[in-house]
Amino acid sequence: MFRILVVDDDADLRLSVASALSENHYHVDQARDGEEGVNRVRAGKYDLVLLDVNMPRMSGLEALKEIKNYDPSIIVVILTAFSNVRDAVEATKEGAYNYLEKPIKAENLVYIIDKAIKAHKMIKDITLSAPVFQLPNGTEFVGQSNEMKKIFSVIDKLARVETAVLIRGESGTGKELVAVALHHNSPRKENRFVTVNCSAIPENLIESEFFGHEKGAFTGADSRKIGKFQYADGGTLFLDEIGDISAAMQVKLLRVLQEKRFTPVGSNREAEVNVRIVAATNRNLEEMIKKGEFREDLFYRLNVLPIQLPPLRERKNDVEILSTYFIQKFNQQHGKNITGISADAMALLKAHAWPGNIRELENVIEHAFVIETTTQITVESLPETLNHLDATARKVALGLTRSANLNADLDFDGDESEQLMAAGAEDIIISPEAIDSAPAIFSLDIAKLDFQASKEEFERQFLISALKAFKGRINQTAIHANIPKKTLLRKLEKYGIVAKEFIQPKK
Ligand SMILES: Nc1ncnc2c1ncn2[C@@H]1O[C@H](COP(=O)(O)OP(=O)(O)OP(=O)(O)O)[C@@H](O)[C@H]1O
Ligand SMILES: [Mg+2]
Repeated sequence: MFRILVVDDDADLRLSVASALSENHYHVDQARDGEEGVNRVRAGKYDLVLLDVNMPRMSGLEALKEIKNYDPSIIVVILTAFSNVRDAVEATKEGAYNYLEKPIKAENLVYIIDKAIKAHKMIKDITLSAPVFQLPNGTEFVGQSNEMKKIFSVIDKLARVETAVLIRGESGTGKELVAVALHHNSPRKENRFVTVNCSAIPENLIESEFFGHEKGAFTGADSRKIGKFQYADGGTLFLDEIGDISAAMQVKLLRVLQEKRFTPVGSNREAEVNVRIVAATNRNLEEMIKKGEFREDLFYRLNVLPIQLPPLRERKNDVEILSTYFIQKFNQQHGKNITGISADAMALLKAHAWPGNIRELENVIEHAFVIETTTQITVESLPETLNHLDATARKVALGLTRSANLNADLDFDGDESEQLMAAGAEDIIISPEAIDSAPAIFSLDIAKLDFQASKEEFERQFLISALKAFKGRINQTAIHANIPKKTLLRKLEKYGIVAKEFIQPKK
């Protein structure tokens, strides 16, 4: 059972908090001041402490430090009078999870505690990821969004077959991880997984890199060398950045794919191999085919089974679980004990567009690790890149978590983070700078009550307002209004809205 300690010098408050929590099946104990609180924490096993700020003998902030020193994994929620909110903010820097303003409403209390427990559990549970996959030690494939669940089930199926797979997606979306997962869950897993980065090998060496060479085949070839195809025999060959290989190599590659044979450079004997090909690219191969830069026949050979990884901004739902995973990973690597992310910092992470996808998120968390001095990642330790949000959007992102946490009055019925983004988007659209230019979104004309027409009218007005708010910038509008860019473009075309018309000339 989850054990909670309420520390406050106000007996009435202790009692009402304790009874509200007991009703919700928590085990609750009480302490009258900071010192008694700390002593009780040391003596008993508490998962969460509710801590008043102003108390005799030892203040809440001092008690917080003692508690976090004793066991950083104990969640602390500060109870504070409105006039002391600054202290409470200070406390979140010292590792408090969040704060509640007095007078305390039972439903807010229970809401925050439920959320804290959830966040805490994520950090504790090492196996975060749904997948059943085998991966090399220390690697995990993490994701809980519907998009990633689909990818997991595709990997699961494709791992068992022999056909070539083409993995596509923006930089940093996890293409290499998919390739690794395909191999480690295939019948070939006892054999090698060999990676060739096609963009990193000079053109004059690539053929020998792929197929090997005989001694003396060319200047500098002073001994016989086995190529990557042979080295991967029986296993998987991962051709990374396949969009970057030359026309000549495309022909040779096509031949191996068709015939499973090749000739090492300088040899007159063909070699036979049994490799499974997995290729990846972030380039638009269809476009390259049109321009004559990529062979269509090779494309069809590789693209038999495509996997398209969605960018992180289209699965914001994964931001929290990925961040938690990276915290765990870096705790081990850096020998630290960071126990979580403050609610404000998480709001900024969720609002960011992540052009560098998961690699960027991983870097941001590592950066925070290096500079964070408290036991949780706070807004202060996030890098400047997250400040790409303009002042209004940033305020909305931060303000929104506060109000969601404290009032618990946002009626989320589905996935919470996505709802939060959607709510954020609306708030951003009615940001002060947009208010004078944007019309009120949609008014219902009872005389012409028609669902389809109304929906379209709403969409049209919504898009116009959103474009106005983001000054005609398609990417910004798509991100903040939580619409996939493609959908946005399609809808703009449908309604004949021209984004350029909303661009404001620089003053
Ligand atoms: N779902 C995930 N769970 C855990 N870690 C992930 C996930 N997706 C990506 N990563 C991590 O993010 C980083 C970038 O992933 P990866 O190298 O696979 O991307 P990529 O698509 O190959 O990028 P690029 O096109 O730039 O080569 C890696 O450290 C990888 O382990
Ligand atoms: Mg890669």
